[in-house]
Amino acid sequence: MRIAILTGAGVSAESGLGTFRDKDGLWTQYDLSEVATPQGYARNPDKVLDFYNMRRRNAAGAIANEAHRALARLENDAQFDVAVITQNIDDLHEQGGGRNVLHIHGSIFEALCSGCGHVWPRRDDLSTAEACPACTTIGTVRPNIVWFGEIPYLMPEATAYIEECDLFVSIGTSGTVYPAAGFVEIAKGAGAQTLELNLEASGNRAFDTVRLGAATEIVVDWVAEIRGV
Ligand code: APR
Repeated sequence: MRIAILTGAGVSAESGLGTFRDKDGLWTQYDLSEVATPQGYARNPDKVLDFYNMRRRNAAGAIANEAHRALARLENDAQFDVAVITQNIDDLHEQGGGRNVLHIHGSIFEALCSGCGHVWPRRDDLSTAEACPACTTIGTVRPNIVWFGEIPYLMPEATAYIEECDLFVSIGTSGTVYPAAGFVEIAKGAGAQTLELNLEASGNRAFDTVRLGAATEIVVDWVAEIRGV
């Protein structure tokens, strides 16, 4: 069985990483137009780098939870061909054993040069005073994160998995940001079964089944059920 899984901030919530739109979520504390858009970066790059330096430190201290580990068990089960398409910029799917993980919104542990496009691994703070290691330009270093208004990464690969899957599962995402929010309709249109596992229902009527609860409970239960263990 081919399973395409879309995850959002909710799958990492129980690892201590905040979500965006829940009570006290990141977008209730920060103006996303100032810290998550190319315009915000152009206006005040130090503020943007400080925001992602904080998020990188939080992500570096987080530990994969039982939901990440359950999804890795599903990936490693020969009965299934699994792709995890994540909106998350943390590395908790990989920490939990995930191998086929598509980061369509980028990774907090990579840096990008907005001048030459060079991408390199990065676990410590970024500064506007540093030079790109490839083109040596100063002032073009940014986190390798897809901001609002930019094109997500790996869309051809992600779309192929979604169009060819037998089952599409959305986990821990409010389904408010496109193109990811439209994946369920693509899967449904291609004939897949669709399942939402979430703390609160997104309300998208394209889901055949909705199960509500914390990811470390409902994802673990669902994986055990579908694996027959
Ligand atoms: N278990 C399962 N789901 C949870 C949990 C939990 N413990 N806690 C919260 N959730 C659910 C919420 O009910 C909500 O549906 O996670 C979802 C979080 O929604 P958002 O905060 O909107 O996060 P997300 O959907 O990932 O945002 C999508 O928006 O800001 C951009 O690029 C950013 O990737 C992000 C995108």
